[in-house]
Amino acid sequence: MRNAPDQPLRLLRTLIPKRYQPWLRGIHRGLAAIGMQLEEPFRTAFPYTQVHPNRLRALAQHARTVCGTGVAGDVVECGVLDGGAAAIMAAFTRECRKRIHLFDAWEGLPQRSTEDGPLADPWVGDVVGSPRRVLRIMRLLAIDEDRLVFHKGWFRDTFPVADISAIALMHIDCDFYEPTRAALARWAPLVAPGGIVQFDDYEDFVGCRRAVDEFLAEHSAIRLERLGAPGTAYFIRFPGPR
Ligand SMILES: C[S@@+](CC[C@H](N)C(=O)[O-])C[C@H]1O[C@@H](n2cnc3c(N)ncnc32)[C@H](O)[C@@H]1O
Repeated sequence: MRNAPDQPLRLLRTLIPKRYQPWLRGIHRGLAAIGMQLEEPFRTAFPYTQVHPNRLRALAQHARTVCGTGVAGDVVECGVLDGGAAAIMAAFTRECRKRIHLFDAWEGLPQRSTEDGPLADPWVGDVVGSPRRVLRIMRLLAIDEDRLVFHKGWFRDTFPVADISAIALMHIDCDFYEPTRAALARWAPLVAPGGIVQFDDYEDFVGCRRAVDEFLAEHSAIRLERLGAPGTAYFIRFPGPR
């Protein structure tokens, strides 16, 4: 397994001020979407997310499941960037009007830890998203803004003070070991029976994989499930009645 994915256009990225990153990424992804067979709302969301379309479809399926089976609690995303994946979860929980909690510092990735390995270095301080673009994709998908709760800041500051009593669906997409471990430690105890947590980086970032594997080793009743390929979605389902 690779340590961390290669960073595209690494040299060029150092020349571009970070505040322009979200808009350039949007143009790049928008052009890429032209040649792809994407159905709505995935086509509209694609320029606003780095998540593989099959993983977005898996998130949509989980959202339908938790809505349709009445799993209690809110939707949470740890690592939002430009909001495309969060908007998909919001769109597919529209009928049950789940609240959507958006956790991100919007300042790029934090320092790595030893568990992430040296190939994670080029990513530190990079991957800067935009809360304005998050609002834009939410509007494009006609998501009621009353459902959105922005938790802007580093997880170490926002997690302790966030007011969430139960979670039906969570997407953990923060690349590195420490934030993934922190998200599981803080929020897994609040996931309702039948609730689902999907990990975007299990395949690509060794630190994320380590954090998830440690969690699974500590919770023998929970197993990792996989869905689809390419862009396999990795997720866990919390036991209990649905
Ligand atoms: C890969 S991006 C998220 C992609 C997004 N889910 C999408 O749909 O494209 C990772 C995000 O995690 C955030 N992040 C990582 N560690 C964090 C931490 N400790 N506190 C706050 N945000 C963090 C970064 O700011 C970045 O926006």
